[in-house]
Amino acid sequence: MSYLVLARKYRPATFSEVVGQEHVTRTLGNAFAAGRVHHAFLFCGPRGCGKTTLARIVGKALNCERLTPGSAEPCGTCSACTSIGDGSAVDYQEMDGASNRGIDAIRELTEAVRYQPAVLRKKVYVIDEVHMLTTEAFNALLKTLEEPPPHVTFVLATTEPHKLPNTILSRCQRYDFKLVPASRLAQHLAAIFAREQIAIEPGALSLVVRESGGSVRDALSLCDQIISYVGAGAIAEAQVAEVLGVADRSLTRALVGALAAGRAGDALAAVEQAIERGVDEVQLARAIVRYLRDLAVLQVAPDRAGLVDASDEERAELVAEAGAIERGRVTQMFDRMLRCCDELGKTLQPRLVLDCALIDVATLEPLVPLGDLIERLGELEQRIVRGGGGGGGKPAPPPAKPVPAARAVPAPVAQPVSAPPVAQPVSAPVPVAQPVSAPIPAPVIAPSGPVPAIENAASGSGPHPIPTSEADVLREWEFVLGKLAAQNVTLAGAFEPARVMAWTPNRLELGFPAQFEANKELAETKDKLEALRGVLRAEFAQAPSILVKLIDEAAAPAARSVLEATRERSSAERSKREAEAREHPITKHVLHAFGAQIKEIKTDV
Ligand SMILES: Nc1ncnc2c1ncn2[C@@H]1O[C@H](COP(=O)(O)OP(=O)(O)O)[C@@H](O)[C@H]1O
Ligand SMILES: [Mg+2]
Ligand SMILES: [Zn+2]
Repeated sequence: MSYLVLARKYRPATFSEVVGQEHVTRTLGNAFAAGRVHHAFLFCGPRGCGKTTLARIVGKALNCERLTPGSAEPCGTCSACTSIGDGSAVDYQEMDGASNRGIDAIRELTEAVRYQPAVLRKKVYVIDEVHMLTTEAFNALLKTLEEPPPHVTFVLATTEPHKLPNTILSRCQRYDFKLVPASRLAQHLAAIFAREQIAIEPGALSLVVRESGGSVRDALSLCDQIISYVGAGAIAEAQVAEVLGVADRSLTRALVGALAAGRAGDALAAVEQAIERGVDEVQLARAIVRYLRDLAVLQVAPDRAGLVDASDEERAELVAEAGAIERGRVTQMFDRMLRCCDELGKTLQPRLVLDCALIDVATLEPLVPLGDLIERLGELEQRIVRGGGGGGGKPAPPPAKPVPAARAVPAPVAQPVSAPPVAQPVSAPVPVAQPVSAPIPAPVIAPSGPVPAIENAASGSGPHPIPTSEADVLREWEFVLGKLAAQNVTLAGAFEPARVMAWTPNRLELGFPAQFEANKELAETKDKLEALRGVLRAEFAQAPSILVKLIDEAAAPAARSVLEATRERSSAERSKREAEAREHPITKHVLHAFGAQIKEIKTDV
């Protein structure tokens, strides 16, 4: 037995069988029942929602030999009804406007219109896709349409009524067909499957409905496809998803679940599988967005069943899930996935875009309300003002800041990170953790501005030993410069770029890289050298000869000047602070809340 496609097998034969176009069928049915029938109808609406079907019903209603008085429903069995149904009625003509666009076809039609019907009571002319006619054809049609012979009825059908000239529109009684709502369509399909005696999962049905987009014809041809794929037996949702190459709900649900729980790996694996099965990235992203939309709707209106296209079972699951995820989180995920759909439309690398979006969504930090954010920023600011957060409530005095003017000459402002910012008594072994074994005071370099009293800092202990290791040399040299800075900032500044090339009891050799020749000349002046000697005498009980020379930048890479050491330290400190800023929860929240990216981090080092 040949298989009759479902769309033909289940083409409605009466007004009441037509699904989801009640606004049209009721009006038409009433007009027919009352005998007030217009001579020209215009049926507009998307494909596959019943225009041709209803044109045939109109043809039958006009010609049925067994109409019950007061009713418009054709009997479906008389010769008029059957001949129109099987396309053999000479007086019922369906013509395709797209392939008969020209004036000749319409002339032929208007010619034929004049003759009485051969068999039926009324001649019915249906012109499908009537918007395709040429202007001349429209003009030729116009006159007949205005005053057709009493035995003729026209039905014009189109998916694009805006392309029709007003002259045509104004001569027809217009009916607008709509896409069939999902719940209605699901009912209709379920009834058909029942009559076919084929079992189908509710999820499978929903999937077909969703994919058909509200077109009954599309839904039915999808069903044909699925039936021939599955063969005998019940139809499962996964099979439908496979045939249609779409994301089924269980996949979408698994994906959204993984995303909500932050399991990016699981989400990516599910995508991988789906794509292998032939689902494309755009469909996946859309399915996720739709699912999130449903969750969001059910979170605010759990009892409004009609707002979500799903079977009762699915809806119950959705409601449970909607209750388990935080509302802000759903919206946040929705926003990001929506952006992903947008990006997918523009990219040649859909997989990359989708994967990145899923990773993003899975790793999104929970949203913080803006109010909280501002409050926390405020707290942070307070803590910074108080000084590093150690304050514990009592407001600490602001740290001494270097005077900006003193910056004209590079000044030794930085200190070793571990050392406290103020000079400390050095008399006893220093209690602060010392990085190196030698019992020497922390090499404090005073800030270049208001200098704290460190004059007598070194007094009381014995002279420093002459440093030997590179680390010691640098630290002691910094200490010396600190002393110099305490006397005069520019004094210390002159020696800052100098590398200590050698330091023995008799000789201190300072090398200035070539670009610091000016500093070298300054350092060589008598009073500068004298001041340096003074510090060495006081602190190291030493009176070495001081040799100042220019060196090749690369000559003594191990020796480092205070300037270089300071720079290195501040760049390390800057990277550290940048990393801190990047990793700070508030930064992350702000980035996620506004979908922003870090362009630049400004630190004060
Ligand atoms: N409103 C409807 N109710 C029931 N079945 C419909 C409806 N609309 C379309 N169909 C089904 O789709 C098939 C094609 O519909 P048709 O009326 O030709 O659509 P069109 O609007 O494109 O002219 C029909 O044979 C029927 O099986
Ligand atoms: Mg049609
Ligand atoms: Zn009949």
